[in-house]
Amino acid sequence: MPLPFIYELVSNGAPEWAPEWMSDPWRVLQVVVVLGILYLIKRYSSGTTNTAERDMHGRVIMMTGGTSGIGAATARDLATRGAQLVLLTRLPPSHPFLADYIGELREQTNNEMIYAEQVDLTSLHSIRQFATKWIDNAPPRRLDMLILCAATLTPPGGKRTETDEGIEEMWMVNYLANFHLMGILSPALRAQPFDRDVRIIIPTCSSYIASPSLSEALVKKQWSPRKAYARSKLAMMVFGQAFQKHLDAYKRPDDLPMTARVLFADPGFARTPGMRRWLTRGSLWGLAVYTFSYIIPWFLLKDEAQGAQSILYAAIEPSLVRGPGGKFIKECMEVDFARLDVKDDEIAKQLWEASDKLVEKTEKEQAAMRALEKKNRELKEKEKQDAEKAQEMDALVDAIKKGKEKEADKKPSRRQKKKGNNP
Ligand SMILES: NC(=O)c1ccc[n+]([C@@H]2O[C@H](COP(=O)([O-])OP(=O)(O)OC[C@H]3O[C@@H](n4cnc5c(N)ncnc54)[C@H](OP(=O)(O)O)[C@@H]3O)[C@@H](O)[C@H]2O)c1
Repeated sequence: MPLPFIYELVSNGAPEWAPEWMSDPWRVLQVVVVLGILYLIKRYSSGTTNTAERDMHGRVIMMTGGTSGIGAATARDLATRGAQLVLLTRLPPSHPFLADYIGELREQTNNEMIYAEQVDLTSLHSIRQFATKWIDNAPPRRLDMLILCAATLTPPGGKRTETDEGIEEMWMVNYLANFHLMGILSPALRAQPFDRDVRIIIPTCSSYIASPSLSEALVKKQWSPRKAYARSKLAMMVFGQAFQKHLDAYKRPDDLPMTARVLFADPGFARTPGMRRWLTRGSLWGLAVYTFSYIIPWFLLKDEAQGAQSILYAAIEPSLVRGPGGKFIKECMEVDFARLDVKDDEIAKQLWEASDKLVEKTEKEQAAMRALEKKNRELKEKEKQDAEKAQEMDALVDAIKKGKEKEADKKPSRRQKKKGNNP
């Protein structure tokens, strides 16, 4: 349709109804060039589309962050392909929002095999409770894939926040939660049959390139949301590489090689709730500016489904089962890491040991606190029961007293009796 119109325009000039500038060919050319450039920028910022295909029926995929943004788009695509999804969510499955979300996802994807399990990634205890329950099964449960999409991000200028267990929030949700979860699930991952294509997918972010080194602690004075987020992402990449080595070193009882693979995927920048919080600085003013200038993020950022493409490629592309694990996927192709320390064994060892210590220390403190809380609760309960018993006793004594008094009132006194006998 545009071709005859362009031909008409070139041969007979602009139609009468057209604005004046259309009669100037030079102006028309300028407009066409600008529109073409804008179209190319939009195409570029939308990223590459995953073209890999695979039937996912029967595959069990455990996911964090599957309720929002890129994770939700990934979950929808995988559910449409028939995968069984176990979504680890902050909310309990009975929560109306989550129940609605799962119901809609089942309906839209025509897949009933979507479940939610409550796991709060700010809590080591919550992770342990879920993961130990998962591995406590004989024979081991089927687990084809682990996709770790959950993340949190303190907006620029935001204050450093700590979880109830006393760990900086971004370090906890973006890194330590995954460290803990993968550590406990490791036996379940290693116990999968040799011919099963097991993948652990770690979404990352190009911010890791600017992260401060992991060999130095990020002290409170130097803390900023940008540094902390980047550092948590770098830590996840270093740990992911180390976890791949941990899997490779495992000697299977059947003497067959280990086939589970860790894959990293950079989704690029996408318009997700997390990105919106970052751009708006988590403020209402920021939200107003974002809404009025929405054309800019729309133009320069991917949508959620476009952001999910590299993760889907990492989950689906059959050729990724060949060769070693630890590959990095960006725009649906394998790329190199931009930092050498991602593969530094010494840094990985230090990180692993320090994380182990932090988990152990925090879990011990939390267990002691829970025991103390339980004791206090029991003490209070006992005090309450004792008080209730005492109240009951008092009431009984009162009732007996009152009963006796009434009886005494009814019985005639000796004098009354005498009077009665002597008329
Ligand atoms: N968006 C981007 O431009 C971009 C760029 C590069 C990399 N990435 C990476 O891509 C992944 C997805 O990003 P996104 O922007 O789509 O994220 P998002 O919209 O902010 O969603 C984050 C998800 O994490 C979950 N989550 C957060 N805290 C949790 C907790 N304590 N317990 C359980 N779940 C928790 C959230 O659950 P609720 O729904 O309950 O809040 C939500 O489902 C992240 O790893 C991110 O770092 C994103």
